[in-house]
Amino acid sequence: MDHTQRKYSEYKAWLQPKSSLTPKALRIRADFDLDFIHQECRLGLNRLWGEIKESAAYTLQLKIDDGAHEAYSLTPLASGFEIAGGSKRGLLYGVYRFLNRLATGESIDQIHERSAPQVDYRIINHWDNMDGHIERGYAGQSFFFAHNQFDYDAERITDYARLMASIGINGICINNVNVNKVSAGLIAEPLLSDLADLAALFRPFGIRLMVSVHFDAPMIVGGLTTSDPLDAGVKEFWRAQSAVVYDKIPDFLGYVVKADSEFRGGPEAFGRTQADGANTIAAAVAPFGGLVFWRCFVYNCQQDWRDAQTDRPMAAYKHFQPLDGAFDQNVILQIKNGPVDFQTREPVSPLFSSLTNTHEAIEFQIAQEYTGQQIDLFSLAVQWEEILTTEVNKGKQLRGLFGHEITAVTAVTNTGNNMNWTGNTLAQCNLYAFGRIAWNPDLTAKELIREWIRITFETDEHGSQTIEAMLLQSRDIYENYTAPLGIGFMVNPSNHYGPNVDGYEFSHWGTYHRADFEAIGVDRTSKGTGFTTQYPESLQNMYDHIATCPEELLLFFHRVRYDYQMKDGRTLLQYIYDSHFEGAQQAEALLQSWETLENRVPQEAFYSVKERLKRQLRNAREWRDQVNTYFYRKSGIDDEKGRQIYR
Ligand code: GCU
Repeated sequence: MDHTQRKYSEYKAWLQPKSSLTPKALRIRADFDLDFIHQECRLGLNRLWGEIKESAAYTLQLKIDDGAHEAYSLTPLASGFEIAGGSKRGLLYGVYRFLNRLATGESIDQIHERSAPQVDYRIINHWDNMDGHIERGYAGQSFFFAHNQFDYDAERITDYARLMASIGINGICINNVNVNKVSAGLIAEPLLSDLADLAALFRPFGIRLMVSVHFDAPMIVGGLTTSDPLDAGVKEFWRAQSAVVYDKIPDFLGYVVKADSEFRGGPEAFGRTQADGANTIAAAVAPFGGLVFWRCFVYNCQQDWRDAQTDRPMAAYKHFQPLDGAFDQNVILQIKNGPVDFQTREPVSPLFSSLTNTHEAIEFQIAQEYTGQQIDLFSLAVQWEEILTTEVNKGKQLRGLFGHEITAVTAVTNTGNNMNWTGNTLAQCNLYAFGRIAWNPDLTAKELIREWIRITFETDEHGSQTIEAMLLQSRDIYENYTAPLGIGFMVNPSNHYGPNVDGYEFSHWGTYHRADFEAIGVDRTSKGTGFTTQYPESLQNMYDHIATCPEELLLFFHRVRYDYQMKDGRTLLQYIYDSHFEGAQQAEALLQSWETLENRVPQEAFYSVKERLKRQLRNAREWRDQVNTYFYRKSGIDDEKGRQIYR
C-alpha cells in the first residue's frame, strides 16, 4: 500500500502496544511541576499498556537530581521506579529511555541505567527544499515545506519532535544546505515568523532549530553589492539580521553554511579564507549563544579528468587544516565521515586526526544516497561502528575524540512525508541507530539493531532473528555487488542509483577509477597523489604499503593490477568476480528470508519491504553483470569458475 495515500492522523508510529507487560496500574509522581514530562510519560505508558489505572501501590517517581544537564538515571525501587534527570531535559531523556526499554520487552525491575551523552550537540540535517522536494530524499516530500512556504501538520511535527527527542536529538536544521533564493529568506520576514512558530513546536522536546543560510545572503536578503566577509557592510548585515532572528527565537541554535562548494558562493570568491567567512557569521550570532556549523565539503567540482595530479579526497584537508586554530569558538567545522562523499566504504577523513584547536562535527548520512536509497537494504549502524572504531591517531579511535575535538554529531536524515517516515520500514533502524550512537558511540551495531527490532515489531524469535541477520549482513551484501574494495562511485551520475561503471570517468567531479586493461585505482600513497601524507605517520605507513593497507580499502589507496594476489591467494580480478556473484546471490537470500516473515510482521510492512527487496535483487543482478562484463572486457581474463559473464 502506498503510505502517502493515508491521512497522518490514521497512523501512529511511536511505540507499538505491548499489552503483555505489567504493571497495569501505577501512579506517576513528580516532585515539582513537570506537566509536559509527566504527560509524555503517561502518553508513552498508555501506548504500551493501554489505559493504565491510577494506583498508589506502585509509584513512578520523576525527579531532578544533581547529575549533568542532559544525564538521566533509571532505578527500580522497592514498590516503584525512579527516573531522575540532571535537568528537565535530562529527565525527559530518562523518560523516553525508560519507555524504549519497556518497549523492547524488558520487565520494569531489570531496567537500571545511568547515562549522559558524550557530545553536546546531536543534530539532524534536513535537505528539504521549500518547494517540498527533498534533495536525495527517498521517503516522499518534505513535511515542513510545500510551494515555497511552510506547510506542515502540527500533529505530525509534534510526533516527529517526540521521535527525535526519544533518541536524544537536540538540534534540527530544517532546510537544504544548497540554499536558494527562497530559502535564503528564512532569516527574514515573512518566513522568520513561520520559523518561530515551528520552533515553538520543537521547544518542549528540548530541540533547537537551525537553518542553512546562503553565503550570499548579504546580497540576496540584504540587497548589498557584495558578500565579502571582511566588508563592514556585510558584517553589519549578519549582525543586524541575526539580532532579528534571535529576537524572534531566543533559543535558536544557529546556522549551517555550505560555502565554496558545488557552485555555492563563499569567501574564496572574494580572496578570503574559510575562517574569514565563518568568523564573520559566527561573530553575529555569538552574543546570543548561537553556533555556526561550517561545512568542509569543499573541493574542485570542475576538475578535468585528464588532470591526474588533483585528487579530490585531499581537498578538505588542504582547505581547512592550515587554518586549525583560526576559527572562532562558536564555529564548528562540519566534516563528512570520509574524505569523498558518503560512499559504501571510505577511510575516515584525515581532518579528524589533524585538527586539534578547532571544534569539529562529524557528518554522517542517514539518507542512503550511495548506499541503496532506502530500496536496497543497508544497515548504516554496521558502517558507523567500523568508522567509529577506526584508529585516527596513536591508537586512539575516532569515537575517542567525542566530547573533545568532536563536539557535535550530525547526519543528513532519511525522513519524508511517507507515513512510516522512512519509506522502507527497515530504514527506520538507521535513523534510530544514528540518535543512539550520537549519544553513545560505544554502542555496537548488533545492540542497536536488536533494540530497534524489539521496539518496532512484536514478532517471535524466528522473526527477530531473521530481521537481525538481514540487517547485520546487509552492508557486506551491498558492498559485494556494487563498487569493489573502496573504489567508490561507479553509479549512475545524477540519481546515484544503479551501476554505471564509467559514469563518472570523463566528467568533472573528480571521482575517477582509471581502469585500463591491466590495473585499476588511483595511487594515493606518498609516492602517488600524496593523500596518505595527510594522516599521522603510523597510519600513513599502514595505508602506504599494500601489505598493511586494510584489504577492504585496497582500491581506495592503491592502483592494483588485476593479477595482484589478495590475502587469500585469489587474484584481484577473481575477487571482483566472486564478490559480485556472491552479492547477487545474497540479495536473493535476503528476499527469501523476508518471505518467511509473512504474518510475523504487520502486513503493510511485509509487502512494502518485500517489494523493495525485489527491486534490490534486480539492482544487484544488474550490478553483477555490468561490473563483471566490464572487467572481463578490460582484462580479457575469464572467471575461473566459468560462471555466466556477458561478453
Ligand atoms: C553530495 C550530494 C549533493 C549534496 C552534497 C553536499 O554531493 O550528491 O546532493 O548537496 O553532497 O553534501 O553538500
